[in-house]
Amino acid sequence: MTTKKKKKNSADNSFAAIEKKIDKKATDAHEMKPSEAVSSEGGTMSESLIMVRNLEKHYGELHALDGVSMNIEKGEVVVIIGPSGSGKSTFLRSLNLLEVPTSGEIIFEGVNMLDKHVDINVHRQKMGMVFQHFNLFPHMTIMKNVTIGPMKLLKVSKEEAEKRATELLKRVGLADRANAYPSQLSGGQKQRIAIVRALCMQPDVMLFDEPTSALDPEMVGEVLEVMKSLAKEGMTMAVVTHEMGFAKEVADRVVFMADGKILETGSPEEIFSNPKTEKAKQFLASVLS
Ligand SMILES: Nc1ncnc2c1ncn2[C@@H]1O[C@H](COP(=O)(O)OP(=O)(O)OP(=O)(O)O)[C@@H](O)[C@H]1O
Ligand SMILES: [Mg+2]
Repeated sequence: MTTKKKKKNSADNSFAAIEKKIDKKATDAHEMKPSEAVSSEGGTMSESLIMVRNLEKHYGELHALDGVSMNIEKGEVVVIIGPSGSGKSTFLRSLNLLEVPTSGEIIFEGVNMLDKHVDINVHRQKMGMVFQHFNLFPHMTIMKNVTIGPMKLLKVSKEEAEKRATELLKRVGLADRANAYPSQLSGGQKQRIAIVRALCMQPDVMLFDEPTSALDPEMVGEVLEVMKSLAKEGMTMAVVTHEMGFAKEVADRVVFMADGKILETGSPEEIFSNPKTEKAKQFLASVLS
């Protein structure tokens, strides 16, 4: 991996420090560290956090994913770009089985996500997802929105969930809005809350699907800043975005998709300065112009 900026010493109120402070009891029961992953042969093996092999998704006649294979390493930031309809969202949503792939393999932390015997909910909880539209519950306060998941799914106590939530809200500059309702917040604030909600579930990877596309331009920066700080602290991230500045600055790897396939993958420099396929050249010319 070519990371240059991961695992910095963090200030006490960093996302990483907050991670350390949380009570691990609730997760230890079902969490298997990648280094402890057990292969199908029964031995241990070191492996990528996520390994995707030959993923296919058909919607009737439409071939939305056409043999997609990709590894995502722990601590890596992968930015996925490509034209509309190229399968970026389908790919991201397939990782945590919001879309069920037609065929292929997704191995996450050593677990075959498509194995019918696997309790998918347990593993899906370790993948935080942030969408273009925030999907906050409108009738619940911000505090309730971000603590209901840990309390219901991780069986974390209300006190513990609120403690963690308060720390994370502080980190994104929204501690004073804990008792507000989503309708009382701006789009940028709602998206920062959506990120906090995902982080409250103590994920091992964060998936972002165009998190800033629905925002007014003046609110894009505040959300990207939160994402950058997460990336710097070593969070594994897969990000679909049209924010090429973010990709250049933060991505370890850029993946270009078109027609349901990965056409190019490389460092931001490689993809942005020297795209090889005609489709990537055309796409980049359109978004960078
Ligand atoms: N639920 C669905 N039913 C049928 N077709 C779908 C469904 N979801 C996506 N598709 C189709 O699959 C293809 C890939 O869609 P996808 O949303 O993954 O593209 P995308 O790269 O995320 O595009 P965009 O940049 O517009 O978000 C498109 O042709 C889309 O119309
Ligand atoms: Mg999409």
